Amino acid sequence: MNQPENVIEIRNLSKVYRDFWGRKKVQALKSLSLDVKKGEIFGLLGPNGSGKTTTMKLLLGLLFPTTGDVSMFGEPASNVEKNEKIGYLPEESYLYRFLNADETLDFYGRLFNISSDERKKRRDALIERVGLQHARKRQLKEYSKGMTRRIGLAQALINDPDLVLLDEPTSGLDPIGTRDMKDMILDLRDQGKTVVMCSHLLADVQDVCDRIAILYGGELKVMGRVDELLKSKEQEQILTSTLSDEALNEVKAVLVKHNAEFISADRPTATLEDLFLKTVQISQAQPGKRFVSADDKAESPLDNEEKPAT
Ligand SMILES: Nc1ncnc2c1ncn2[C@@H]1O[C@H](COP(=O)(O)OP(=O)(O)OP(=O)(O)O)[C@@H](O)[C@H]1O
Ligand SMILES: [Mg+2]
Repeated sequence: MNQPENVIEIRNLSKVYRDFWGRKKVQALKSLSLDVKKGEIFGLLGPNGSGKTTTMKLLLGLLFPTTGDVSMFGEPASNVEKNEKIGYLPEESYLYRFLNADETLDFYGRLFNISSDERKKRRDALIERVGLQHARKRQLKEYSKGMTRRIGLAQALINDPDLVLLDEPTSGLDPIGTRDMKDMILDLRDQGKTVVMCSHLLADVQDVCDRIAILYGGELKVMGRVDELLKSKEQEQILTSTLSDEALNEVKAVLVKHNAEFISADRPTATLEDLFLKTVQISQAQPGKRFVSADDKAESPLDNEEKPAT
């Protein structure tokens, strides 16, 4: 079987921030080694100050490593030509506040020497993709946090990059914006692009990432496939349609016969995200519909829904 090629190779990367006089201030990364494969979504996790943004800036060549090597697309990170194949959504927006969305994308398109016709095509497609058609002529200083994140993503994609680096892509987004952002990230993978993202929102990372690395104090602590890391090695889960008490007792008897311990039988629950999104969807389709009753026992918008298998 062919191994997918590595888009990023990081070897023994360390970064020490120094003060004005060259004295050591903070060791932000300690001997980090990891690979990111073509076509995967890779998540960088870790508490505040663990070195995630530093890693991204080293990848982009915005910072120089103290020791170690980074290669991207087989070239050293210091080779700035590689940045034409990279899109970057920074943690903090650095976009020009007095430009509107159209002007912003046009400006960044020009930086990449994209022709006028192509710029217009990409700008329209991206504005539609990130859901900002209604606000494309408004100056970015009037944008909400979530809208700023959306135009930031559109900007990161204007050069049709092969690798996209997203620093906290879902921060500040409401659940609908978060779902859209996650869908957009999955679309990027479907288009064959590679994505590296960092986030504190662990549920979002779990939903979209193929592999993750957890940093702590600048050191790599855990790395692997999300499904492998989270899969229980000591328990088995079987999902069935609703069982009668009699059937359940028979199942328990079978388990005893096979020396297995019966732990619990429960109805699977959906996520709060499912409930929120369904409520918004129903509110749009049936404005008069409510699920509120005095005793809190109203039906749920998710009742009679196909629940996702857990
Ligand atoms: N320009 C800088 N000068 C000095 N120290 C810095 C600089 N940038 C980052 N640091 C320090 O390096 C460490 C790692 O910071 P980094 O921004 O990479 O963390 P992070 O994992 O992205 O955190 P967060 O989750 O808060 O975004 C922190 O201790 C931080 O204070
Ligand atoms: Mg950061």
